[in-house]
Amino acid sequence: VSEVARVKNLNRLQIGRHEVDAWYFSPYPREYAHLPILYICEFCLGFYPTPFMMGRHRARCTLRHPPGNEIYRHEDISFFELDGKRQVTWCRNLSLLSKCFLDHKTLYYDVTPFMYYVMVQRDSTGCHIIGYFSKEKESAENYNVACILTLPQHQRHGFGKVLIEFSYELSKKEGKLGSPEKPLSDLGLLGYRAYWAETIVELLLNHQDDEISIDDIAQKTSITHADIMNTCTTLQLFKHYKGQHVICLSDAVIEKHKAKRQRRRRQIYPENLIWKPPV
Ligand code: COA
Ligand code: NA
Repeated sequence: VSEVARVKNLNRLQIGRHEVDAWYFSPYPREYAHLPILYICEFCLGFYPTPFMMGRHRARCTLRHPPGNEIYRHEDISFFELDGKRQVTWCRNLSLLSKCFLDHKTLYYDVTPFMYYVMVQRDSTGCHIIGYFSKEKESAENYNVACILTLPQHQRHGFGKVLIEFSYELSKKEGKLGSPEKPLSDLGLLGYRAYWAETIVELLLNHQDDEISIDDIAQKTSITHADIMNTCTTLQLFKHYKGQHVICLSDAVIEKHKAKRQRRRRQIYPENLIWKPPV
């Protein structure tokens, strides 16, 4: 791919009833690259150059949810699991779409090494994609997320945290600790830092009378020791006490946490996750 072709190509995307700006280059085929608006089917993620062709497609497309297994449902939120090896076209279309909002990662043209966990909001017209994360089937580094995305029209409503929470629920079922693939984008780092802080502080609040070690926190949350250490350092939770390091919540941290918890809109209900690690 030449340098010129890597310059941001698309301007706007229409996805379902939303229209959004593309942020970065995405390798859609050349004939689609310089359109003022690219039309994307929100169910099959197929792409079309004109409203007319999109309309013709919509009349024929029968898909109403991602083509995989529904592994979680609570109220109007569901997660579908897709295997990149089986749902090649859908997962490639998802990669093309998500590359519009991801700058720093190489796009995975080869989707076969990944599983995809797609979060949707259900209504009477179908399952509308909110976001997703991909996960390597075999990760030597124990990454539990490769790419993670909330579609721009749904960002800043707490869905990113729900995606992250879900990724750790999968790690708990695997009996493993996990961490997202590096490097993280600025927004990715903000989302993870917020999740780690919230999860660790919540756990500490519930164990205020017991001693709790970094390893205890790791076993209970599936967050890695390194990510816990960083979070506790950032929140200044380490205190010296009788010649030892102890983890201690300050009033300021507790107050901030309680205020955030009140604003929090959605969470994962682990008992609703019906899933075994794929073999
Ligand atoms: N500016 C400041 N803080 C932001 C932010 C922004 N633009 N976007 C999110 N945050 C913070 C929120 O304040 C929140 O923290 P809080 O609960 O302590 O307030 C936290 O990040 C999570 O917000 P949430 O609404 O749950 O996340 P989201 O649905 O907007 O999704 C991403 C977060 C990272 C998934 C989303 O920004 C995204 O898809 N970015 C593009 C793709 C990307 O960079 N992915 C990560 C690398 S693979
Ligand atoms: Na990518």
